Amino acid sequence: MGFSENFVWGAATSAYQIEGAAKEDGKGLHIWDVYAEEPGHIYEGHHGNMACDHYRRFRGDVKIMKEMGLKAYRFSIDWSRVLPEGRGAVNEKGIAFYNALIDELSEAGIEPYVTLHHWELPYELYKRGGWMNPQIVEWFGEFAKLAAERFSDRVSHFFTLNEPQCFVGLGFLTGEHAPGLKMPLRDTFEMAHNALKAHGRAVQMLRQYQKQPLTIGYAPTCGMCYPETESPEDVEAAKQMLFSMNPDDRNWTWNVAWWSDPVILGHYPEEGLKRYEPWLPNITDEDMKLIAQPIDVYGQNIYNGRCVRMGAEGKPEEVKRGEGFPKTASSWPVTPEALYWGPKFLYERYRKPLYITENGLSCHDVVSLDGMVHDPNRIDFLARYLGQLKRAAEEINLRGYFQWSLMDNFEWAKGYSERFGLVYVDYRTQERIMKDSAYWYRGVIQNNGAGL
Ligand code: NOJ
Repeated sequence: MGFSENFVWGAATSAYQIEGAAKEDGKGLHIWDVYAEEPGHIYEGHHGNMACDHYRRFRGDVKIMKEMGLKAYRFSIDWSRVLPEGRGAVNEKGIAFYNALIDELSEAGIEPYVTLHHWELPYELYKRGGWMNPQIVEWFGEFAKLAAERFSDRVSHFFTLNEPQCFVGLGFLTGEHAPGLKMPLRDTFEMAHNALKAHGRAVQMLRQYQKQPLTIGYAPTCGMCYPETESPEDVEAAKQMLFSMNPDDRNWTWNVAWWSDPVILGHYPEEGLKRYEPWLPNITDEDMKLIAQPIDVYGQNIYNGRCVRMGAEGKPEEVKRGEGFPKTASSWPVTPEALYWGPKFLYERYRKPLYITENGLSCHDVVSLDGMVHDPNRIDFLARYLGQLKRAAEEINLRGYFQWSLMDNFEWAKGYSERFGLVYVDYRTQERIMKDSAYWYRGVIQNNGAGL
């Protein structure tokens, strides 16, 4: 038992967080390029213009992946690098970069998993209304078509959207992320609906223009819920809370069901339809058909969860974490149970083969006097989480796990102040150092998680 023989052990990154070369070789601007360069938005004025200089150093980075024994690598294609205006003219130099990366991965025996949208919305499309403009469904479809035409001869795994909860919620509700707006709720429901339709259109285009049969998925996120005890009541309470709407309307994007029920089950959750009724756009049967294009796998990013029990009145209630609860350097709670219960609850509801498309933590990593990067907290965290995932793997159809992140990178509004990588990056010299956790993860991969 344990992980299946062909379990996919990988690591993940995204384009803007590592590539750099923000204004080179014909790349267009995207909303993060514009937002990060304006003072006051990002921690200490950091931006992704250079990031990890992966655009130039990708061959060395693939070597490191190989040394780590990674079976798969999940990365994103920057929409504005291949379509500088978001649509129309193709930037061949951008295509050439991803082609070279894909070839390098193939040579190293590492399977590429491509995410189409990890938040790099082309600025030219943003000026035309971005996610608010219903035409984005076709714009995104055009991008997916290009990806299928140019890359799907060698890439057979695609994810459409990464964490729509974040790019709509943090970008347009709370304003913590690019483009830093606080829009009316009505607008954000419109955007969310368009984003889901764009997902559906991308699935259609990938299939229509694929060069080989593709495995297509979706990679949303959310805080998980796990039960305080394994009593049927607590398990039921955790499940109920996980799939219910967020009590705070200004934080409505933080839920699973609104974003995943339409994609997999073909309808929005009843609770949300009632509650959000005043702010919803016109939703047609045709829209729902488009959104629910059959996908092959379900991806979920899972970092932590809330502990839940059934309250005295038969209502789920959150259990307080209490003083001194373990936390990561970003102050996120350490809750390994999320990686057992999360996949289990999702699989029960959606019945799709599952990938953990992201999981990991930031630590206060430094280069020690011996020149190495010792990160016992990361090893401890991953051992606990993967131990729970192993339990899930024995019960559900779990295909793979992508650690976030392959290397330290630009952590959005936090800039380079957070280090999420298995590989340390010295941003002054661009030197890479495999952290202790990278060697540890290599061992996990080698024995397929046997020791967890
Ligand atoms: C989710 C996002 O997909 C990724 O871009 C981010 O860096 C990690 N979580 C960590 O916050």
